[in-house]
Amino acid sequence: MLAYHIDGGMRLRGDVPASGAKNAALPIIVAAALAREGESVIENVPSHTDIADLIAILQALGVEARFTGPRVLSVSAAGLERHVAPYALASRLRASTYIAGLLLARLGRVEVALPGGDAIGARPIDFHLRGLEALGARVLVDRGAVVGQTDGLKGARFFIDRQSVGTTCNLMIAASLAQGTTSLENAAREPEVVDLATFLNAMGARVHGAGTGFIRIEGVGKLHGAHHEIIPDRIEAGTFLLAAAATSGRVTVHAVIPEHLRVLAAKLHLAGAHIRMTADSVTLDAHRLFAIDARTEPYPGFPTDLQPQLVAALCRADGVSVVEETVFENRFGYTNDLVRLGGQVRIVGQNTAIVTGVEDLSGAPVTASDIRAGAALVIAGLSAHGTTEISGVQHIVRGYERLHEKLAHLGAAIRIVES
Ligand code: UD1
Repeated sequence: MLAYHIDGGMRLRGDVPASGAKNAALPIIVAAALAREGESVIENVPSHTDIADLIAILQALGVEARFTGPRVLSVSAAGLERHVAPYALASRLRASTYIAGLLLARLGRVEVALPGGDAIGARPIDFHLRGLEALGARVLVDRGAVVGQTDGLKGARFFIDRQSVGTTCNLMIAASLAQGTTSLENAAREPEVVDLATFLNAMGARVHGAGTGFIRIEGVGKLHGAHHEIIPDRIEAGTFLLAAAATSGRVTVHAVIPEHLRVLAAKLHLAGAHIRMTADSVTLDAHRLFAIDARTEPYPGFPTDLQPQLVAALCRADGVSVVEETVFENRFGYTNDLVRLGGQVRIVGQNTAIVTGVEDLSGAPVTASDIRAGAALVIAGLSAHGTTEISGVQHIVRGYERLHEKLAHLGAAIRIVES
């Protein structure tokens, strides 16, 4: 098993580029397989194990998908003919639900394991299933898998109970080849949803309104391959900014869309950090932070995927911070490990963390339980004195590309070791 070994206490300094957004790349790679003919060329695809697993699932279904250059993925799906996704692979990642939308649209049949992903709450897929049913599929859960079929998807009006990124993407994928028009109400407005719509439209789809709560998809008879560049990963970029803030550092993250980081920048500004934005970079210059309050919300609110990293950065802030989680019901498990590092974090009810800033954290052995929890422990380890060893690196590399190398480039004393 691999672990990160961190000698904390260094201020991060320098420049680092953002990679492509994981949560945009996943549905876009699946959407590329909607084309019966032609090749899609997708650039800025990050190298994560979640992406590798998804590509392996598509290959097992008959899709040709291969990297033709650094971060350039070619997808040709003329050979897509199998409707049963490999169980072990699909059960490992959340994004395997997109395979249901794809295969119902392309083949009219699907069998795909219920998804895995992070241990941050129940994460049901009931909205996905109801949405696919609204489009005319018959779906049921049998022996741990979603089993579905249809004589042809038909456009429909569907209200999504809560703004759900996954449901919105899945139904956009399915509805693009359905007969007639689909309206998604209370759709997610995340930039990753917009990026998927941009790609689908480049493939010949007719998706309108992405980025608003109301998305209309006019189904088309066929889609073709297209060229696309994945947007930058705002969560990875935010993780670097929070790591810089936690270590009183000065870091520029470039190759980003600053607009996507506005709410984080506003919070960090309130916490006393200096933030400067150019057209494609964000620079943070921080001394010791002040305590702040934050509440996670769907975009454009504060992202739940930056909540653990924010709490980690606030552990040494001056005063008492209150951080409320509203998107997932169980996303504070990692705070036990922050306490191990000397943080004073108390969970009230299930959804609120009270973080009392301490003068210093001290290194300790801890374990990453999911991608963002792992990133939070890395941030805490960087700002702690002494040595922190973080096991469970396999969770972190599901969503961060060369995290330790990028942090080392910023001056962190971090390396990968066998644990
Ligand atoms: C995606 C992201 C994840 C991010 C999350 C919220 C991917 C691969 N993952 O996850 O990193 O944290 O958006 O921004 O893109 N829900 C249901 N039933 C459903 C679907 C969702 O009850 O069928 C609930 C969830 O439990 C959660 C809320 O709706 O409480 C929002 O979840 P959703 O936006 O769907 O998250 P994911 O798409 O799984």
